[in-house]
Amino acid sequence: MLKKNMAVYPGSYDPLTNGHIDIIERGLKIFDKIVVAVLKNPAKTYLFNLKERCGILNDVFKSNDKIEIVHFEGLLVDFVKERGITTIVRGLRAISDFEIEFQMALMNRKIEPRIETIFFVPSESYSFLSSKLVKEIYLLGGEVPSMLPAIVDRKLKERFRRP
Ligand code: PNS
Repeated sequence: MLKKNMAVYPGSYDPLTNGHIDIIERGLKIFDKIVVAVLKNPAKTYLFNLKERCGILNDVFKSNDKIEIVHFEGLLVDFVKERGITTIVRGLRAISDFEIEFQMALMNRKIEPRIETIFFVPSESYSFLSSKLVKEIYLLGGEVPSMLPAIVDRKLKERFRRP
């Protein structure tokens, strides 16, 4: 059975930021349930391993039964299809995101035309936020706690051995 009231929000979540949370909250205005799908890509080096990335998400969303945290490997459309879901959610922060997101959405449609991608625009306060920049900032001794769940700020400080 197709679950039209559900969507998959895929990503690396290395680590989760308030920008991701903003997109999930917007998604829940449209969908009854969001499946947050954490990518396991053996070819990629992550700062936080799969267990840690999923652990953070589970901690942040533990009291919300409208959000399910899962991990997947391989093609996103295969995972979405297996779950009987027909919608992928992604965030669009800026025009710079557009090109790669457009390519992925069209390529996913090419492989599986029954799956649609829907884009949400995050709050402008997160339009310049990315997991990549967050990692670089903490690595170099800076911090941006207002842009992260407390657990992520703590784990980044632990990872880079800071009080
Ligand atoms: O958080 P990210 O790194 O921007 O998420 C990218 C993600 C996970 C959505 C993308 O890399 C993906 O879908 N990977 C799964 C493999 C796949 O389906 N590749 C073909 C994409 S057209």
